[in-house]
Amino acid sequence: MATVTMTGTVTVNAAFLQEIKDVNQDLWRLLSNARRMSHEPAMIYAAPRRFFGLIEQLRDQLALHFALEEAYGYFDDPVEVAPRLCEQAERLRAEHRDLYLSAVALTEFAEQLLLASNNGRLILESARQFRAFDDRFQQHERAENQLILEEYDNDIGVGD
Ligand SMILES: [Fe+2]
Repeated sequence: MATVTMTGTVTVNAAFLQEIKDVNQDLWRLLSNARRMSHEPAMIYAAPRRFFGLIEQLRDQLALHFALEEAYGYFDDPVEVAPRLCEQAERLRAEHRDLYLSAVALTEFAEQLLLASNNGRLILESARQFRAFDDRFQQHERAENQLILEEYDNDIGVGD
């Protein structure tokens, strides 16, 4: 993981961030389809173009998802927020770039599935790379969901 540079304070707009996650059903559907294929490589063997297509669409959906989160789900220079939540928000926002670059690399790798020389080892490696990416993305989402909850708590605390 790249070093996170603190550039001021950042926090999340919990309600907007939650909303972006709730409405982005295309992303969750793509992920779940790709996940199913990656756990059963015979499915990729039977339909390599479909697997590549899912990965490629996933890359584009992620670009949109991260852009929306950064535009509406995060904001800089909040008036009042716990430093620990700021650090967490800064770290999670910075992860978007790494995750997107990984999705780009994954797509480039999986593109080989379109070649005639497509083989078992390539299929297994594509599946493995997807699962590794998926694990990191799920971890990111869990941490963001946790931050949303903590931010709600923090807001309630400020009102007291
Ligand atoms: Fe995110």
